Amino acid sequence: MDCPVCKEAMITLELDEVEIDYCGECSGIWLDAGELEMLLDDGGKAKKLLDSFSQAKKVKEKHRRCPICLKKMLKIFVGDEAEGKGRLLIDKCPAGHGLWFDRGELRDIISLVSFDQEHRVVKLLRDMFCNECESDASTDEEGNTMIVNKQIYGKTRDGEDIYLFRMENENGVAAQVTNYGAILVSVETPDRDGKGADVTLGFDTLEGWMEQNGPYFGATVGRVANRIAKGKFTLEGQEYELAVNNGPNHLHGGIKGFDKVVWDAEEVTKENEASVRFEYTSADGEEGYPGNLTVSVTYTLNNENELVVAYEGRTDKATPVNMTNHTYWNLAGHDAGDICGHQLVMHANMYTELDEDNVPTGKVKPVNGTALDFTSPHKIGERIDAIGGYDHNVVLNKAPGEMGLVAEVYEPGSGRTMRVYTTQPGMQLYTAEFLDGSVKGKGGAAYGPRSAFCLETQHYPDSVNHEEFPSTVIRPGEVYKEKTVFKFGTKM
Ligand code: GLA
Repeated sequence: MDCPVCKEAMITLELDEVEIDYCGECSGIWLDAGELEMLLDDGGKAKKLLDSFSQAKKVKEKHRRCPICLKKMLKIFVGDEAEGKGRLLIDKCPAGHGLWFDRGELRDIISLVSFDQEHRVVKLLRDMFCNECESDASTDEEGNTMIVNKQIYGKTRDGEDIYLFRMENENGVAAQVTNYGAILVSVETPDRDGKGADVTLGFDTLEGWMEQNGPYFGATVGRVANRIAKGKFTLEGQEYELAVNNGPNHLHGGIKGFDKVVWDAEEVTKENEASVRFEYTSADGEEGYPGNLTVSVTYTLNNENELVVAYEGRTDKATPVNMTNHTYWNLAGHDAGDICGHQLVMHANMYTELDEDNVPTGKVKPVNGTALDFTSPHKIGERIDAIGGYDHNVVLNKAPGEMGLVAEVYEPGSGRTMRVYTTQPGMQLYTAEFLDGSVKGKGGAAYGPRSAFCLETQHYPDSVNHEEFPSTVIRPGEVYKEKTVFKFGTKM
């Protein structure tokens, strides 16, 4: 079992039939209902103890989760405030699986409640955990440090461990990510009545992500997102040939792009935010690209309801890099039908014109007078037929590298809103025209055309073949750095 505080695997101490889970890292202990029963002199008392702690106190949750059922634990108030006897806040599983104590709390609880003080295990606990704790030194109960919950998700065919990481903020926004493909697995966010829904398309299981993710649901896409014409480019006098996987072109990093590799993962928790940082080294020649490129993508959820996706990369040879996140959003819920009723604003006055293979001609044209003009709010469905579904890159109204608001989405039914900010110069609006209901998504949902929209912040497609476009090339000593923020909210 993992410690609900620091996520380390707990050590199980076996003492006279009582198994106590102890965290070597933070010295906290977990007592489940059965163990409590053994420690109290009669069975009924354990139940009474758990039940009497039913009054949850309204404090900023620390998002500790029961190590058994993973439900968010309640902060419970123990002790009689009126009598001035120890006023203690501890964590209780809402399903009654047990109680969590840190060292100071354990000392206080032993003196407060009717543990059999002579019980061998109680004595041992006192000796081990209570003697040198002066006061409740290790708690920061009023703090609101966010934690990352890490669970095994499965294994790849090569036997590599894949994890599911969950971050949740104090407003009920939660994001899950996995080290397979550095994929954004889900985003739950409340509607205007506070009711949550998962607003991203995807799969319930790792097998789904590994075997059915042709559409790039939630994926981190790279080394170069979008199309490279004929899969070819010349850099520093040398021609490179990439894997061709989309008609005559290279798409989304090739046959085995960043969305299909296993990333190293590291969780970082701080006050008001939690992050998971993924890192991957793409070897020289992978999918035809030059240079060993080490990239990272860090997902951070904060209490401002922002999901921040930050990218970094370093290479030992000049190479193009253009990473994006390919999440399919439906703010009414992942299985709520088409997104035609969503209202969209894009702060983009221009777009890159496409040829018949969906590759930029090099011309940058005004959106004015076209179905791509979302400079004022329009329903996505309003002009979608006229353009045969959206799959276009728009040029954002800001300098490349500068962080700015680029899109605002509003779903009138739920009231959910999403704002997109980015440092990137372009954004692909894609309305999932290629979905045909054949992949079995979350909860068995059959996702059809237009059941989601993607706002893939990125450099313009095929930039490596267009000197007139902002450059995607990085060289040794340079750092590739981009950031995109998805900010969730509601309106009436
Ligand atoms: C991008 C492309 C689309 C399509 C999707 C993935 O948005 O522009 O043409 O390939 O990815 O299905």
